[in-house]
Amino acid sequence: MVTRTREGTGRTSGRTGWIGTGRMGYAMAERLAKGGADVTVWNRTRSKAEPLAAHGAKVARALPDLAACEIVFVMVSTWDDVKEVVAGRGGLLSDKARAPKLVVECSSISLEGSAELRALLAERNVECLAAPVSGNAKVIKAGRLSFVCSGPKRAFEVARPYLELIAPAASYVGEGELSRIVKICHNVFLGVVTQSLAEITVLAQKAGVPRHAFLEFINQSVMGSTFSRYKTPAFVNLDFKVTFTPHLLRKDLDLGLDAGRRFEVPMPLASLTRDIIQTMIGRGMTSEDFAQLLLLQAEASGMKLEPENVAVSDGL
Ligand SMILES: NC(=O)c1ccc[n+]([C@@H]2O[C@H](COP(=O)([O-])OP(=O)(O)OC[C@H]3O[C@@H](n4cnc5c(N)ncnc54)[C@H](OP(=O)(O)O)[C@@H]3O)[C@@H](O)[C@H]2O)c1
Repeated sequence: MVTRTREGTGRTSGRTGWIGTGRMGYAMAERLAKGGADVTVWNRTRSKAEPLAAHGAKVARALPDLAACEIVFVMVSTWDDVKEVVAGRGGLLSDKARAPKLVVECSSISLEGSAELRALLAERNVECLAAPVSGNAKVIKAGRLSFVCSGPKRAFEVARPYLELIAPAASYVGEGELSRIVKICHNVFLGVVTQSLAEITVLAQKAGVPRHAFLEFINQSVMGSTFSRYKTPAFVNLDFKVTFTPHLLRKDLDLGLDAGRRFEVPMPLASLTRDIIQTMIGRGMTSEDFAQLLLLQAEASGMKLEPENVAVSDGL
């Protein structure tokens, strides 16, 4: 199958494999399949991948089935999980006779894990593009995800038509694992900004300003952002259906603090935010969205928040 990308600049051809259809992986693979790419998906919990068949994707029974694909995308949780699906028993590379040409690894993982993955793949002559992303599943559906990529430039050019089907933006930042540090910095910022937004929203409310009025002003001010806008419905109406879990955010702050130690960069705000997220986890606030930082902040301020039940835009 040959498909033009939306921009008409590239083509997807040949078979594409997709490992991991969690919140992010599902929405990304869905765009690829809807865009006309020939996609075969695998997920540990098979039932989560099956709805993709309605968009033309095939659902693989076993990971080595994907080794016949030219490009395989990976979107799982941690480095340990990436290692397991790629190089573990029954993993992508477990059939010694077959391997894809290129793996595009999109999970948020460490620089060290990413380098180890590249080495593991090189042993089988498989190229690796490190391609973590910015945005949640709703952002993907709205067509506003962005990739940050590193590895051989040639691998980026091969992957580009597929990336363009999934997201309008893909930045190439250089060789090796450079994209990992960009993503780690991005998510440290995410954690710190969310905590700060929680603090000032509770402060404004305790002083008498409804959350929707406060956030409407912030969103229109120079401090407003795509992020502050799309978190506004959760903050105003207390809908904390998970987009990103506290555990995954703690992983990313830990990656940031590890990198800070490695490069000898003090990160006082990241450190404090990491411990606030730890408190949230310790209190069992783990199954809903990390934006519940707002509730923790309210409790620490002697307040019990109620939904304001005001229709507010998420800006997407
Ligand atoms: N959510 C966000 O807003 C967001 C944004 C940017 C980046 N990220 C990053 O994207 C990655 C995925 O996040 P997510 O929110 O999609 O997480 P998620 O919904 O929890 O999905 C995790 C996926 O990984 C699979 N998985 C985990 N461990 C595995 C293992 N050992 N073997 C096989 N499969 C395994 C899960 O399979 P099962 O379905 O069988 O559990 C599922 O498909 C993470 O690295 C995260 O930090 C997330």
